[in-house]
This record gives sequence, structure tokens and C-alpha cells, in this order.
Amino acid sequence: MYTYKNYFNVYGRIMQFNKNKTEPFHRWYPFVEGYSKEFIQSIIKEMRANNLTCLEPFSGSGTTALELQNSGIECYSFEVNPLMYLIARVKLEQNYSLDMVNEWFRFICEHRDDERNIELETEFKTLYQRDDIEKWNYNTEVAMDIQKLNYAIGLIDDNVYSDLFKVALSSILLDVSNLYRNGKCLSYKRNWKDRKYNDKEVFEKFDNKVLNELIPDIRDSRTKTLIDNKQRLFNLDSRSGIAEKIEDESIDLVITSPPYLNSRDYTDTYMLELKTMGFTKNSDDIRELREKTLRSHVQIKWTDNTTVVNDELNEILKKLELAANKGETWNTSIVDMVRLYFVDMQNIFRILFKKLKKKGKIYFNVSNSAYFNILINTLEICASIAEDEGFKVIEIREARKLKTSPQQKEKIGNLLEGVIVLQK
Ligand SMILES: C[S@@+](CC[C@H](N)C(=O)[O-])C[C@H]1O[C@@H](n2cnc3c(N)ncnc32)[C@H](O)[C@@H]1O
Repeated sequence: MYTYKNYFNVYGRIMQFNKNKTEPFHRWYPFVEGYSKEFIQSIIKEMRANNLTCLEPFSGSGTTALELQNSGIECYSFEVNPLMYLIARVKLEQNYSLDMVNEWFRFICEHRDDERNIELETEFKTLYQRDDIEKWNYNTEVAMDIQKLNYAIGLIDDNVYSDLFKVALSSILLDVSNLYRNGKCLSYKRNWKDRKYNDKEVFEKFDNKVLNELIPDIRDSRTKTLIDNKQRLFNLDSRSGIAEKIEDESIDLVITSPPYLNSRDYTDTYMLELKTMGFTKNSDDIRELREKTLRSHVQIKWTDNTTVVNDELNEILKKLELAANKGETWNTSIVDMVRLYFVDMQNIFRILFKKLKKKGKIYFNVSNSAYFNILINTLEICASIAEDEGFKVIEIREARKLKTSPQQKEKIGNLLEGVIVLQK
């Protein structure tokens, strides 16, 4: 019923973060779930105006706000995860002094050899190597070097620079750990117990990050723009934060990619960095963060009974319930997640409708999903919910075909990822 437009050639390669990995500032943290700056550029071109006020409800590593800032466009953004918030904030800073970066880097190098202040204490049982456990995330010598760096960074008395070096450290953690990101979760690297560590590996990787990426990018950065999107970035749950921080009818454009309905838990995916850098200190902190995150995961048992009145969604929910009742209890959490994901989507569209000016536009990047071999047409359901909230659905742009999980592959094939274009 909606107009589908073939954008496979235009969006095919730019809806992933890969292209950002060689771009100054964008490359400081190897984010997985983002799009590249070219997506933002393509929208700026379409808008044919620069005096815009934009909003990004799911900032992630800050691609939208950074690219808009570089083009002199205001962007308010919201991010619930403290690690992502830090990364975006650091990339948006425009007032680094190269001399200060060099000076604080020398300071870290001078202060990172002191073992006296380092204690590998944590409430997380498998974070550090211990005799009474079978698996651990970091070997002791690696963990010691990470914490020596962390300690030295903590001595910096200027937050702008301590934050910068925290991002450099966060960006190498996975690499020096015994883990790798395996789609939705963290898994142990093959033969991790036999890996030989060179005792300078952590410092070398950190130094490379600083010397080969941060310093050259800061040195070569163009003069700063007058727009400061760092001041417009909030570490808040967008479901409540936007209402609190943004004036009604003040936004021209929303560009965003919310978590997909793929049971990926961002708290899980970035758990190693969250624990190591002290963003989450115990399981209560982790639970609290999961509760603030959009309901696209099953790690929490939700008690909310609400649902969106929408024919296509209700059909899907019935089918899913039937399929789920045949299986294990885990399955019922999937049905709750699907139901509540769309409750969150409705909430977001409702808030955005209030905040957008008349004729304001939304570019909403999301993909379809599948559970129990049942296709969930997330693109259409979101479009239809947005329409019920008052938006006009201009079109759905087909961007990429994503692989399904092996269990869904036979019946479902690929899953369409796209961009829903809406107008108030
Ligand atoms: C698909 S990623 C966005 C990626 C981003 N476009 C980029 O290029 O880096 C979705 C982000 O939404 C964040 N998120 C999830 N629930 C949120 C909420 N309730 N409020 C704000 N951010 C949230 C996640 O932590 C994640 O970083």
C-alpha cells in the first residue's frame, strides 16, 4: 500500500558504519550498528537548505550530529548508553588544542607505569582472570595495563582531554580482551587460552590509536563551525528526554536509526567497555540501563501490558503467540518484545509529531525482522503507526537485503532494510 522506491544502488553501501572507519573523527570508535556519513550528506542534499534544526533520537556513536555539525547544521541528539554518549560527545568537541593533546599524552605515558595504585577489583565475576573460574574476559597482565592507563587518564584534571583518552582506551578494549563481538553478543575468541601476549600490547595499541588517528585528525581538522552540537547532546532516554528538552514545533528534520527489532541488547553488545571503564559497576546498573533502552531485546521480563491498535501488527502478534506456545518460555519473551517494540515506536512517533514543524520530515532507517519463521514487516508497521499519529508516508526506500538468522533462512530468505520517509 505504500510507495516503495528502489534505493539499493544509492544506499547499498552507505547504510553501514564501514565507510566511517577511515573518516577523521568518525573513525575514533569502531561502531558496528551505525550508518555512514554519506547517508547524512545525501539527506542534506535533498533538503536543499542549511538553516535547519534537526533531531536524532538514537544517537549511537554520533554520526548524525557530527556530520550535521560539519555542515553547519544544528542537531539535538539523545543517547541512553553512557559509552555511546561519551564517544559522541568526544567526537563533537571542536576546541581541542593540539599542544594540550600532546602534553596530556606525554603525561599519560609518564604516569602509566605505576602499579601501586592498581587493584583489579570488580563485582563482575568473569571480567578478570581468577583461579576459581574457567573463563575470563581479560588476562591479568592485560587487565593491569588497561587499569594503569585508566588510572593515568583519571589524573587528567581537564574533562575534555580525559574524555578524549577514555575513548581511545575504550576503542582498543575488545581487541586486547579474550572476546569478540559475535553479532548480538560477546563470544570467546578461538583458542583464547593459548594466545601469547606481548607485554606491551595494550600500551602499543593505545599509542597507535592516539598517534595515528586522534592526533592527525585534530591536527588536520578544518576550522570549527559555528554550530556546537555537543551542547545539544543529551545522555537521556529519548522516550522521555525529548519531551523535556525540545520545544514543540521547533524541529525541521529528524534523521535516525532506532535499535532494530532483532533482539540485540546494546547493553550486552558493549558490556565489556561498560564494565571496564566503570560505566556500570554491578548488575543493578546493568539492569537499570537495559530498562532505559528501547524494548528491542529479551534480557528483561517486561510487565507492561499495553499494545498498539494496528491491524497488521495484531495479525502478526496472533501468529507469533501461536508459534510461541509450541515452544519454550523464552519464546513468550519474544512476543512481548515485539509488542512492546511497537509501543515504543508509537510513543516516539507521537513525540516527534509534536516537536516537528509543519512540513517537517523524518528519515527513519529500520529493517524487517523474523521470528519462528514469521516475517514481521517492521517497515510497513512503523509506517502505518506513524500515519495513525498524523504523518504522511512519502515513501519507503529499499536500502539493503540483510541476512536472516540460520533458523529463519529457509522460509523467510532475506530481510529488507529501508528508510521510511515521513512528513508532518
Ligand atoms: C542503531 S544505533 C544508532 C546508530 C547511529 N545512527 C550511528 O551511526 O552511530 C541505536 C542507538 O540507540 C540507542 N538507544 C536505545 N534505546 C534508547 C533510548 N530509549 N533513548 C536513546 N537512545 C537509545 C542505543 O544505545 C544505540 O546506540
